[in-house]
Amino acid sequence: MSAAEKRLRESEEQSAQTPRSRRATVAILDYGSQYTQLIARRVRESRVYCEIFPHDVTADELGRRGVVGVILSGGPASVYEKDAPSIDPKTLDGRFPVLGICYGMHLMAHVLGGEVAPEGKREYGPASVEITDPAALFEGLGAAERAWMSHGDTVKRLPPGFHGIATTERLPFAAMSDGRTRFAVQFHPEVMHTPRGAEVLRNFLYRVCGCSGDWTPAAFVEEAVEELRRTIGDRHAICALSGGVDSAVAATLVAKAIGDRLTCVFIDHGLLRESEAEQVVATFGPRLRLIHVDASERFLARLKDVVDPETKRAIIGEEFIRVFEDQAKRIGAVDLLVQGTIYPDVIESRSRESKTSARIKTHHNVGGLPDVMDLEVVEPLRRLFKDEVRRVGAELGIPEDILWRHPFPGPGLAVRVIGAIDRHSLDVLRRADAIFLEELRAADLYRSVAQAFAVLTPIRSVGVMGDYRTYGALVALRAVTTEDFMTADWARIPYDVLARISTRIVNEVAEVNRVVYDVSSKPPATIEWE
Ligand code: XMP
Repeated sequence: MSAAEKRLRESEEQSAQTPRSRRATVAILDYGSQYTQLIARRVRESRVYCEIFPHDVTADELGRRGVVGVILSGGPASVYEKDAPSIDPKTLDGRFPVLGICYGMHLMAHVLGGEVAPEGKREYGPASVEITDPAALFEGLGAAERAWMSHGDTVKRLPPGFHGIATTERLPFAAMSDGRTRFAVQFHPEVMHTPRGAEVLRNFLYRVCGCSGDWTPAAFVEEAVEELRRTIGDRHAICALSGGVDSAVAATLVAKAIGDRLTCVFIDHGLLRESEAEQVVATFGPRLRLIHVDASERFLARLKDVVDPETKRAIIGEEFIRVFEDQAKRIGAVDLLVQGTIYPDVIESRSRESKTSARIKTHHNVGGLPDVMDLEVVEPLRRLFKDEVRRVGAELGIPEDILWRHPFPGPGLAVRVIGAIDRHSLDVLRRADAIFLEELRAADLYRSVAQAFAVLTPIRSVGVMGDYRTYGALVALRAVTTEDFMTADWARIPYDVLARISTRIVNEVAEVNRVVYDVSSKPPATIEWE
């Protein structure tokens, strides 16, 4: 286990022990479905707070965590497999309202004394579900609804005390209930292909679990501020503000709780986009105690003549820690480090612990900080999804411009100037990049792409401008659509918009005489070029 993973594990354990707000929580037990996160998002969209738990969490632990309902996710296993993921039987004994989905339904049937039939063949796709008993779970729905199926096994015999509440052509038990608080469905209510699935989930949350749908950004802010005040007490904190959404919202939230006892350090490594430093200072200077460090000399000196992308990353990561440590010493006694970790990072790091995967690129922003600085970490956004972070940011009055900004890599433009970097090439790239983003915004396309940027290549090519031969730089434009940045497709930007961008770059950036658009998806390419 790496130091960072160890820290993550410790802070997970710590956060499990910390007395939390009394907010009613719905637990999602993870059986390895690709849709587990989606279930969590749907529950949150119903304004109910939920957390994803490992499937072997005990009923006692759930009780301690204020759980008012449990959802069992789907998963690829069959209940009859050796080492199939199971459940603490006490979780199913009626003490919690339960909704089993797909594998979760099989597991309930299996553990509670019913029988699961290994079908042998999979059912995958839409089905028409006939509702035979709408009580609670299906209230407000039609007699038949479309639903998405993706399963191998099915329930053949119901557990004692349960009755069927829906059927399909193929399935006598497409859903079941004990007539009180335990329900299960064979289909997937969380996916878009089940058009009224959100209502099924809402019925479970509101009618069965008794949740009221009062988990709003304002409620989150109020609870988080109260909890931060309680846990931080009169101690002092620092935060590395990058200008990105997550650190901006985390810092603003902590500042709301402890005011001037939070100092934010904004390190300008000279690798930021056009006007970015000015914008960060203008936005956060008046709201936070902010130290702006222009460290560009240091960074650029160390990056001189460096060509290898991973060496660039290592130098930037190392230098970042040094500058930050210097600043921390100047501030004086500090106990805590605020970080903008969000829920998908927590979930992914958890599952990475058990998997080995090839390292394509080392992604580090300030990931190395806590290990070297011996500070307690505060992560007020560690249970929020990205869209929730944005809503909380809006609640805190952070400008839209910052909240909807595309993610920007920690090493910044260093990995977008291909090969060796100097101030001049950075300036060329900044200008081309700014024109690209300006035109995307003007065409109202900025929010529909996940990331867009220009890349300055070391290629020079021949061109003609007026009556003159040119031999200039090649700029590549990259814009992608993606949900999770693990896979991505190139964005279909209309030709006329590309034409406008290309013309402007060649006309306005003297060094550039050719613009190309990157039409590679990830995989096999990556989003960044280095
Ligand atoms: P790739 O290029 O790996 O990028 O497809 C996926 C996402 O990660 C960002 N990225 C980085 N972020 N430090 C970061 O903080 C890095 O070194 C780094 N490299 C890539 C990239 O911008 C995209 O959002």
